[in-house]
Amino acid sequence: MQTPRICGQPNDLSAYWLPFTPNRSFKERPRLVSKAKGMHYTSVDGRKILDAVSGLWCVNAGHNRSMIVKAIQDQAERLDFASSFQTSHPIAFQLATQLSLISPEGLDRVFFTNSGSESVDTALKIALAWHKVNGEGGRTRLIGREKGYHGVNFGGTSVGGMVANRKMYGSLLAGVDHLPHTLLRENAFSRGLPEKGADLADALERIAQLHDPSTIAAVIVEPISCSGGVILPPKGYLERLRDLCTGYGILLIFDEVITGFGRTGDTFASQTFGVVPDMITTAKGLTNGSVPMGAVLVKQEIHDAFMQGPEDTIELFHGYTYSGHPLAAAAGLATLDLYRQEKLFARARSLSAVFEERLHSLRDCPNVTDIRNYGLVGAIDLKPIEGYPTKRAFSIMQRAFEAGILIRSTGDTLALSPPLIISESQIGDITDLLARLITEAA
Ligand SMILES: Cc1ncc(COP(=O)(O)O)c(C=O)c1O
Repeated sequence: MQTPRICGQPNDLSAYWLPFTPNRSFKERPRLVSKAKGMHYTSVDGRKILDAVSGLWCVNAGHNRSMIVKAIQDQAERLDFASSFQTSHPIAFQLATQLSLISPEGLDRVFFTNSGSESVDTALKIALAWHKVNGEGGRTRLIGREKGYHGVNFGGTSVGGMVANRKMYGSLLAGVDHLPHTLLRENAFSRGLPEKGADLADALERIAQLHDPSTIAAVIVEPISCSGGVILPPKGYLERLRDLCTGYGILLIFDEVITGFGRTGDTFASQTFGVVPDMITTAKGLTNGSVPMGAVLVKQEIHDAFMQGPEDTIELFHGYTYSGHPLAAAAGLATLDLYRQEKLFARARSLSAVFEERLHSLRDCPNVTDIRNYGLVGAIDLKPIEGYPTKRAFSIMQRAFEAGILIRSTGDTLALSPPLIISESQIGDITDLLARLITEAA
């Protein structure tokens, strides 16, 4: 096959402005993959790269699974596109039904989006609109959490709590406040959920009294803040948040864009932790990363509150051209089948002890200041190099790629979230390489 010559040079890297990437350093030393299968990518120079982060926390069943590939191919031949505005197609309904059957009790209405960011903004808008239809239009405030990540649209950026993601974008949404994060020094090297810090949820009480509870529409948190560095909820924290929200009539939204679809050993972390929110935002693992799709799972009573007035008027003025796209819906159905057939969520649960053990074996490596884990997600904090924050973790990520393993660095944290099909020996391969690279980087 001839190499396409678009910018005058074969494979010119200059035109593409990569998201969330140091572009100049990337283009000096690119990490390019061209194929994938199961646990591995193949780089453009033909090397096998073990994927320790499920692509970007999304390929939970492993890459290029034939059931999903076939479903997408068949669907592309049958129906390329159907508008979801005032028409639709059967498999979007099938997927919504399947999702409602595996979601936590009561969250059985589904609004489709194309990404995690869109799911978050959709959920925030539904929260505001729901209070309005309930005659509580004064509930306009949204509460997020420090170090939280809810995507990059204006709503998600506003409730998000990662400073670098916010500081360039002006004043963002008005009326937003943030809970304190739950990353406590005294919980360092906890295995699973940390013991201390449930009382951090009580900050909601203070925020509610500051603004008056009747002005607050919703609280949004990730059950585990993965992008912020795999920050876990202290034992009892989510329960307290739930109770406070219920008491004050505030909607609780769990952003499960990463924690959904097996990462914690169940369909949703909400089920693992036994706390039911009013809405769940999802994306990523919903289609195993194969076709962009997100969804907001909504309590039926919230949905039903909109189903009033004349039957031929639109109930919610919101939606995307590609909501419930046929290819994404087909990919989603096949993905859920695959998760079920291979019992992948139970597999994540059963591998979590080995994962935890191997991860914590890195504790004595130089400059390791904390290790956190739950299910098949984990993180290693490294002491920053003085004057060069983020450099230590970033260079370890680069060297790991060159050595044949894809990991993620965020700040001075290394993050792991492997596909749920990973083997015990592959977990060992990842931690062995990390032990070597962390030691060499000292
Ligand atoms: C918790 C959470 N919410 C939202 C998003 C945004 O998802 P997307 O990148 O699909 O817009 C992410 C992405 O990592 C996420 O982790």
